[in-house]
Amino acid sequence: MKNQLFRKLSLSELLNQKGTSQFNKTMNSFDLIALGVGAVVGTGIFILPGTVAAVHAGPAIVFSFILAAIVCAFSALCYSELSSSIPVAGSAYTYSYVIFGELIAWIIGWSLLLEYGLAVAAVATGWSAYFQSLVEGFGIHVPQALSGPFSPANGTYINLPAIIIILLLASFLSLGMKESNRLNKIMVFIKLGIILLFILVGMFYVKPDNWQPFMPFGFGGILSGAALVIFAYLGFDAVSSAAEEVKNPQRNMPIGIIGTLVICTILYVAVSLVLTGMVPYTELNVGNPVAYAMEMKNLDWVFGVISLGAVISMMTVIFVMLYGGTRLVYSFARDGMLPKVLSEIHPRRKIPLKNTWIYAIFVSLFAGFIPIDKLAELVNIGTLIAFAAVSIGVIFIRKMKIDGLKEGFKVPLFPIVPILSCLLCIFMIVQLSTFTMFTCLIWMIIGLLVYFVYGRTHSVLNKK
Ligand code: ALA
Repeated sequence: MKNQLFRKLSLSELLNQKGTSQFNKTMNSFDLIALGVGAVVGTGIFILPGTVAAVHAGPAIVFSFILAAIVCAFSALCYSELSSSIPVAGSAYTYSYVIFGELIAWIIGWSLLLEYGLAVAAVATGWSAYFQSLVEGFGIHVPQALSGPFSPANGTYINLPAIIIILLLASFLSLGMKESNRLNKIMVFIKLGIILLFILVGMFYVKPDNWQPFMPFGFGGILSGAALVIFAYLGFDAVSSAAEEVKNPQRNMPIGIIGTLVICTILYVAVSLVLTGMVPYTELNVGNPVAYAMEMKNLDWVFGVISLGAVISMMTVIFVMLYGGTRLVYSFARDGMLPKVLSEIHPRRKIPLKNTWIYAIFVSLFAGFIPIDKLAELVNIGTLIAFAAVSIGVIFIRKMKIDGLKEGFKVPLFPIVPILSCLLCIFMIVQLSTFTMFTCLIWMIIGLLVYFVYGRTHSVLNKK
């Protein structure tokens, strides 16, 4: 039994298996950065610089963003090493399967499923709210019963826009990676253009007096702000899901992951500085602070454009997280941990087509019926668990002899960086609420049940 729980995937077999069939290798480092910025810049940039400045950090929110970026940078370096040394689909789950064995891999994979699945559902719910207010501007009203999750007391039964947007993006994903990437790039360019518009127009309305006092809540405010704005950076790890679809992953993976993080940090710092310079931070605790700042300055056309930008940005986050989730489920099924149908690759489109639809329908029903606002923090915990596992993975991988391991990017200042990265992730997990930790525990128990009832006996390694 103990041997079963800790049996490991053979990397060389995985790499050989992949050579005979599977995905198209179409992506370069530019595609990866587009994928990364697509996954990362979404709800966070349009909401957190305002709400967190108002309640936690004041204009020093800039430092919260920089601090959160440093935490993510440590993990990003570790992700870069593992994804370039083990260039196969499945991200932290597959790395753990090769390094730590089956049970730990399953636990990490199950946490990632929480991140990808809930992020899609949560962002789709946010998208639905923004979309409804946008179309209301044109006099179109979504009927109350179809406008929110199942909650008869509030008169809502199903969040139809949330379901439709997930299925629509799944249909783009099902066209194949080349087409999906093209669409993603277009949306990413539009959203970057809109954010730059905010920065360039907003700059002229900055009054340096609004930055006084700069640190009204002291250093403690900056710290608690950092724990919250980490949400804005989540998603860069989804880049590593693309490992099997990338040309020269040893070079392109680190560029994709670290490039994404650098671009996002610059954007977040610039938006925070302009926003808190335009409007006193005390007034920014509203649902749409970035658009609100423009409204305050009577820039109605910019207000409209920014609301549209928020809608498009959330679409790219849903899109890439949906992509990451399907590839994770594909890896589970490839290893026998879930039914095989989920790992079938469509012969012409070279993507797991059935998996894409089954997964998208499942997540869309979740977004359509379940009120998930209280569950959104679970996205952070799922991600941070995977980050911590990846950091420890780097320490192990350097000490182990693994057949087939690629010579790729190496984390600098080893072992200080991975140890610090792991400690920072644990520190961030502890900042989350008890409710979140408890719900995460329930999710893990369900995961263990799935493993012991199905995965353990159906695992491909069982047949060896
Ligand atoms: N980083 C993503 C966002 O801000 C989850 O929407």
